[in-house]
Amino acid sequence: MAWWQEGVFYHIYPRSFADSNGDGIGDLRGIIARLDYLAGTPDALGVDAIWLTPTYPSPMKDFGYDVSDYLGVHPDFGDLDTMDELIAACHNRGVRVILDYVPNHTSDQHPWFRASRASRENPFRDWYCWHDPRPDGSPPNNWLGAFGGIAWEWDERTGQFYLHSFLKEQPDLNWRNPAVRTAMLDVMRYWFRRGVDGFRIDVLGMVLKDPLLRDNPPNPDYDPATSRRARNRQRLVYNRNYAPDCYEAARWMRAVADEFPERMLVGEVFGPPEVLAGYYGGERLDGIHLAFNFNLLGGYDTPFTPWDARTWRAIVDASERGLPAGAQPAWALGNHDQSRLLSRLGNDGLEERRARVAAAILLTLRGTPFIYYGEEIGMRDVPIPPDREQDPARFGSAGRDPERTPMQWDDTPNAGFTTGIPWLPVGDTRINVAAQRRDPNSLLALYRRLITLRHATPALRRGSYRSLDGCPPDVFAYVRAEGASRAFIAANFAAEPRSIATPAEFIDRPLLRTSHPAREERATVRLDLDGCEACVIVTDAA
Ligand code: GLC
Ligand code: CA
Repeated sequence: MAWWQEGVFYHIYPRSFADSNGDGIGDLRGIIARLDYLAGTPDALGVDAIWLTPTYPSPMKDFGYDVSDYLGVHPDFGDLDTMDELIAACHNRGVRVILDYVPNHTSDQHPWFRASRASRENPFRDWYCWHDPRPDGSPPNNWLGAFGGIAWEWDERTGQFYLHSFLKEQPDLNWRNPAVRTAMLDVMRYWFRRGVDGFRIDVLGMVLKDPLLRDNPPNPDYDPATSRRARNRQRLVYNRNYAPDCYEAARWMRAVADEFPERMLVGEVFGPPEVLAGYYGGERLDGIHLAFNFNLLGGYDTPFTPWDARTWRAIVDASERGLPAGAQPAWALGNHDQSRLLSRLGNDGLEERRARVAAAILLTLRGTPFIYYGEEIGMRDVPIPPDREQDPARFGSAGRDPERTPMQWDDTPNAGFTTGIPWLPVGDTRINVAAQRRDPNSLLALYRRLITLRHATPALRRGSYRSLDGCPPDVFAYVRAEGASRAFIAANFAAEPRSIATPAEFIDRPLLRTSHPAREERATVRLDLDGCEACVIVTDAA
């Protein structure tokens, strides 16, 4: 099995992880200084790979997702030498590094776009999606931008609209132009040569849209009360997951990754498993290596996924059924675009218990787990006073600042993140790494134990998955198996205790409880689960 199949990923938002020079902005040197926390020391979290959201030069309209130079490093974060150093430092401790790859759009300040908008005759004109208005002067079609408004911007000087699926400062590249394809695939090669182990591909599903620019139909399920995006008034039939073209784009990228040994691609794509399957390349598996399944999280096209055992089981089972044979799922419970896990799990005092159950599931499912920085200590959304708001994008009614606040390292006023003024306010510093490192039953301690157990147990690393029938409706239970190695996971979503029969082969085996990760315990005939508690039992641990 490949490293990205057996490994645990840690998602770093570089601006908010660690600031090395006191300017209030996290940077690459800050990450280097904190690597001991992540891997390579006896009390490290023990992750196998990190993903950095964009570190490229950018006007930061969308905090780096508006790239103005794909081959550099933004001075806020460091420079190319520091990036090389970070990659080497990670590799030295056996940690892989993946960067964000933003193929759908550039910054409007990218030299390609500046040239493109200079005149209709400019050789770069066709690098972006320029179109004439409809006869009545209105935009070419009804597509909406992800952050509100229409997806078209009128350019007075050259008398055409350009497409921007996100902010107007993020013009969409025209991947149907072979020159664009070549230039963008060369970006991947450039970083692969520098030693990067892979990429997370930003909105892969939008790279190729309907060439006929057909109008999207209305979405009959749209509910303004629960949807976080006005865009979901429409079904994104013609500008997202436009098959088979978008699956072809995945193949082009995969072919480049295959030019280098042991590289991987994980795509940010949205849809049911049958849609994700296309990005894997279907049965041929010649597309991207991993496609995120965000369905345990929700919040993009649907409300957040409810805390409900049957719902979670259905999502995982659907993934198992819907992906092609040999395809590995990729799971995440949070990221820089969505309300943090702890904040989504209620406010009744049980939310941390629920987060522990969620962690146990994330780290024992079949599939590659992605941990969003701070999730492992239970960071919550941080309320942002209006005068400190940073994210210009509207995602629902709010920006995405609350889930992007500085990592909480200790209980000093700036949480050990910076000696200066942090770019976003710091959350409740009682939640911090230093305190949880001292507490063997902390959430952080649980994450460490789960990761250690996963690494030590073939069934958890690469075993098959089978969910179990016959449990009480609040309990999601499954077995992972790889040869003689077996793991049994039972997660009680209810606030009240539940009891189930322990499958025979797990009786008397070591048991890990989410609420008391440090407790030494063995499974008995009945498994008594406390309210909002999960247990993991493995057959092959000492
Ligand atoms: C992805 C990113 C998000 C960004 C958008 C546009 O969804 O995760 O942060 O704003 O793409 O690039
Ligand atoms: Ca800094």
